[in-house]
Order: sequence, then structure tokens, then C-alpha cells
Amino acid sequence: MRLTPQVPVKIVVFTKLLTLKRAFFGNNLAIFPLANHYIDQSPMNHPYSWIEDSLKTLHRANWYRRVKTIQGRGGAVIELEGRSLLNFASNDYLGLAADERMIAAAIAATQRYGTGSTGSRLLSGHRDLHRDLELAIASFKNSEDAIVFSSGYLANLGTITCLVGQKDLILGDQYNHSSLKNGAKLSGATVKEYRHNSLEDLENQLLAHRHHYRHCLLLTDTVFSMDGDICPLAGILALAEIYNCMVLVDEAHATGVMGENGTGCVEYCGCQGRELIQMGTLSKALGSLGGYVTGNAKIIDFIRNRAATWIYTTGLSPADTAAARMALEIIRLEPERRQRLHQNINFVKSKLNNLNILPSEAAILCLPVANPGQALELSQKLLEKGIFAPAIRPPTVPTSRLRFTAMATHSLAHLEVLVQSIGESFST
Ligand SMILES: Cc1ncc(COP(=O)(O)O)c(C=O)c1O
Repeated sequence: MRLTPQVPVKIVVFTKLLTLKRAFFGNNLAIFPLANHYIDQSPMNHPYSWIEDSLKTLHRANWYRRVKTIQGRGGAVIELEGRSLLNFASNDYLGLAADERMIAAAIAATQRYGTGSTGSRLLSGHRDLHRDLELAIASFKNSEDAIVFSSGYLANLGTITCLVGQKDLILGDQYNHSSLKNGAKLSGATVKEYRHNSLEDLENQLLAHRHHYRHCLLLTDTVFSMDGDICPLAGILALAEIYNCMVLVDEAHATGVMGENGTGCVEYCGCQGRELIQMGTLSKALGSLGGYVTGNAKIIDFIRNRAATWIYTTGLSPADTAAARMALEIIRLEPERRQRLHQNINFVKSKLNNLNILPSEAAILCLPVANPGQALELSQKLLEKGIFAPAIRPPTVPTSRLRFTAMATHSLAHLEVLVQSIGESFST
């Protein structure tokens, strides 16, 4: 009789796993024999399997996002997944993205210059229309010079990373846009956040930390993208002067919207002519794509020489450049668009007074809700009533809310439907 030795189950399983691994890695081990050692010691798992688990976690927390398809042009009324809806989710505040003059300018530029700019601006990607746009932006913003990036996000990343480095300090508002926050991280500077719009906290942090660092950069949105309120710009500039700091403000949601001439919050807050760097996007009220930075000529020249997200990326397309240039012209010629936008903002604000609407002077109006689930539920209710207003949830914001954006092209009837639908949805 043959006696089979009793092999512990653990060892059997381990040996089987090893065999499995060898079968799995097959020929690769012949090419990389050193890996035998690693493979024998590491657990058997697939390098991408964690992604499925993370997606499940996002679903469970109601943090999961999916895209929704809009058919045709954007505007105050849209076709979304087969339904006609009133659009309160667009950043096209002046309704320019579907304007025939913008479309004609983009087509004309495409015919003349082609579809792509074909290279980095410092190599083959620079055209006269890029410089023309930059000069027009500089004049619009009352600045010495301007530089145009392929997006606002890239403008922030590129500008921040070339202004500060490891020996420097960044102080930024806690509610700043992701592009400011990630630009700060990428720069290698020490990054500290101050309480939202708190000059007191900003000054306390300057007092505590400023003298330990070479340069200091203050970063803030002017109109906060997920709240709609405005930074205390005059106070920030005053602190910057005292504590010897550079200031970069993000005018993404202010450009074309705020100020007598629509140039942004720097104008609205009476801070034109002060020393600071301003960025903004061409993709919101200007209805195109791209980002800009304005400031004194030396700063812009420095950015042109040092900003990696400008130097090592393809120049803005001719169509986007020409559309943005046309938008500046329309903004100059048609101040009534901006006036109409503010009438619309004030109408909605006055009607929603009894709800807990967050303070705002811009085109972004937010209603806080208890949690992500409630935000999704209310957004769905509004959708059933013909209103498109997405739920804004963590991690984009610390607390959930519904966010409505007004457009100059909303009619009074559109706004009345919005107000009534919000009233019904929030009361049930
Ligand atoms: C405050 C703020 N800054 C920058 C950006 C980035 O601009 P862009 O869309 O042109 O990349 C956005 C866009 O959402 C924004 O809201």
C-alpha cells in the first residue's frame, strides 16, 4: 500500500497559486528571469482590479458621474437625450456660443488657416490671429499685455508653476477652483489655504508664515464657481502690498459678466490699475474655448518663456481664436446683453429669497441641500418639470447643492417656469 503524505491545505493552495502565476506570466519570465523572485513573494492580483471597487464606492456614495448628451447647439433651451429642456446649467452666460456671428468667424478662420494650429506657439503654431486676440484681451482688461492658452485650466497650471517653486509660499482660498489648487500643488511651493473669503485668516497666515519664504503668491477666484459669491479683492490686494506678495485672480466666471464694461470683478471691485495678474477663460461668457492671462508686459513675457503648459502644447485652434475675438467685439457693441443677464439674475434671486439661496452677485445661484442623494433627487424632479440644473456634489464641493446659471438669452417666461418648478420641488 502506498502512503500519501498529508500535505497541509495552506501549502497546497500556495503551490497551486504559484503554478497559476507561472502560467499567467508565461514567456515573460523567460525574458525577465529576475521577476521570479518578486512573483513568488507577491499576492496574486490584477493591477487594474481596484478600479472596479472604486467605481462601486462612488456609486454607493452617490458620487458617481455620467455624461448627458445635448443634441445640437447649446442655448437657453436645449434638446437633452430626446427631451426639450430649459437650460440652467450653462456657462455661456451671454448666449454667444450659438451666435451666428461667432459661428461665421470660426468658419472664416478655419477656411483661411485650417482646422488646427499644427504646433506649439513657439514653433509652427503661431498665427497673426493669436496675437490679435491677445492684444484685444489686453485692451479689454486694461492691461499691458496678454497671453492666450489652450484652456483656462492650462492657463492656471502654467502661470502658477512658473511664478513660484520650492522656496516659495502659496496662500489660496479654500474654495478655489481645481485648476488653481492643482497648479499650486504642481508648483512645488508650500501651499496653505485660508478660510473662504476671510481676510482675517489670510492675514494671520501671512503673519505666521510669510517671512519663512522667498516669494509669496496669493490665489483666489473672483467669482467662486460653485458658490457664486465674490472675493474681497480690495482687501486681498491691500494685504498683498503690505506683505509683499504676488496676486493671481481667476476671472473665469466674471469675464463678460461683471463690471460696467463686463471686463470682470477687477473692474467691478474698482481695482483696475492695481498690480496683479489676472486669468480668465474664453470658454464661458465668451462662448469659445481657451484661457488668457493678463498683466504687465514683463510678467507676460516671462510666462511666454517659462510656462510649460503654453510652450509644450499646441496653440489654440484658428476657429476658437477667431470666435473669442468676435465675442470681445460683441461684448463691446452690445452691453444690453450683460444688462439683460443681470436683470435675469436679479429676478431669480428676488423670487427665491425665501429659500436658503447662497449670496451671489454673479450668474451662479446655488441652493444648498442636505446630502448628495437629495441633490440628485431634486435635480431629477426638476428634470421631470423640464429644467436642466445639475446636482453639484462632493468631492467638487464640500456640501451638496443645486446650481443654476442664468443666461442673457433666458426669457421672463423661462425664469418663471424655473422659479415655480423650484418652489414645487423643494416643497414636496
Ligand atoms: C474658476 C474656474 N477657473 C478655471 C476654469 C478652467 O477653465 P477652462 O474651462 O477654460 O479650462 C474653470 C472652468 O470650469 C473655472 O470655473
